[in-house]
Amino acid sequence: MQNFTFVNPTRILFGKDVIGKLAAEAAKAGKKALLVYGGGSIKKNGVYNALTAALAANGVAVTEHAGVKPNPVLSHTREGIKKALAEGCDLIVAAGGGSVIDEAKAIAAGTKYNGDVWDFFSGKPAPREALPLFTVLTLPATGSEMNSGCVITNEATRQKYSTQSPVLFPKVSALDPETTLTLPRPQIAYGAVDALAHIIEGYFTTKDRDVEITDEVVHALARAIVASTERILKDPADYNARASMMWSATLALNGLATCGYGGTNFINHAIEHALSAIYDIAHGAGLAIVMPAWFKHHLATEGPARLEKFGHAVFGTSSAEETIAAFEAFFRRAGAPVRLAEAAIPADAIPEIAANAMGLIRMWGMKHEQPEIEKILRNAV
Ligand code: NZQ
Ligand code: ZN
Repeated sequence: MQNFTFVNPTRILFGKDVIGKLAAEAAKAGKKALLVYGGGSIKKNGVYNALTAALAANGVAVTEHAGVKPNPVLSHTREGIKKALAEGCDLIVAAGGGSVIDEAKAIAAGTKYNGDVWDFFSGKPAPREALPLFTVLTLPATGSEMNSGCVITNEATRQKYSTQSPVLFPKVSALDPETTLTLPRPQIAYGAVDALAHIIEGYFTTKDRDVEITDEVVHALARAIVASTERILKDPADYNARASMMWSATLALNGLATCGYGGTNFINHAIEHALSAIYDIAHGAGLAIVMPAWFKHHLATEGPARLEKFGHAVFGTSSAEETIAAFEAFFRRAGAPVRLAEAAIPADAIPEIAANAMGLIRMWGMKHEQPEIEKILRNAV
């Protein structure tokens, strides 16, 4: 087990009716908020009304920045920064999924930066200052509500890149499982795939394979994600399954699930970001295609040990091949694509996808070359 530092400063308000409490916390940070949200799901499920009423009751005035798209883009982020500056906002409130929270993080940092926000994503120093951010999560998937990362797509260059900084941790996040009752079925599947992807990246690329506690945290989260998702698919109104899924996805990428691994590698994510940068598919859909392909490569290059251990603990399988099949079967049952063609991505685009992924692979300091990435992607044909 390697040395580590674990810090997570985000305060979590979890359960029914926590939006009012979030507004009270936000009011302590300022009186003028930029309210960031997406294409309108929060207006259909009551989150918008509850949040704006609670902010008003706590004396917080709101400027709206709506229309964040899934796979949030740089141009819309820049508009948000302009708006926050013009209105003199002193805090940001984000309500939605990972895309909304990520764009809100970029706006929070960009508003405090004397330069172009894309600098943070393209290799220049990470943000050192940001407006305080408060989030209402409505889609369990990315963990953005309790981590310090964010992902933005530069739509002009088709680069889907990330930045990370301690100043990007949300101050407070409200996780009310009832807000997820309106999720469309594909988003339930993609969220489950993404949360699983977050824990498998560390588990399978750890520099130290003797960290029993973290391995068991990963097994427990994976079992909870799979079991909760199966329950939600059977009965979308199952509150406890929604709650379990929501907390599992948050814990999957808040730093807990890699403690002691001594360094990990986000290779599935680097490849997926190329798919969603080029084809604008959902992040979880891209991961469901990449992960089985990468597992086959992992088995060929690293051997069966990790796949056997994970599969035995999570799926009750007894070989590496059965574990890969169990992942695929779960993704399919949930409704995610598992081959490139199932997302209408042609096999002859593999060199272009791999070349795009190499940008992020270099940025993240990973040691992979394009032929290897092409080989992995060919496993997804
Ligand atoms: O835009 P609205 O109308 O809100 O609709 C959204 C969107 O269409 C909808 N939705 C969200 N909550 C809903 C709902 N619909 C009905 N009821 C609800 N309760 O779902 C759609 C997808 O939302 P999005 O935010 O795009 O999904 P997700 O949470 O999966 O976020 C994906 C983005 O996060 C990035 C991904 O790359 C992608 O850009 N990631 C961020 C990470 C981070 N910051 O740590 C890590 C991840 O690995 C990931 O890269
Ligand atoms: Zn992810």
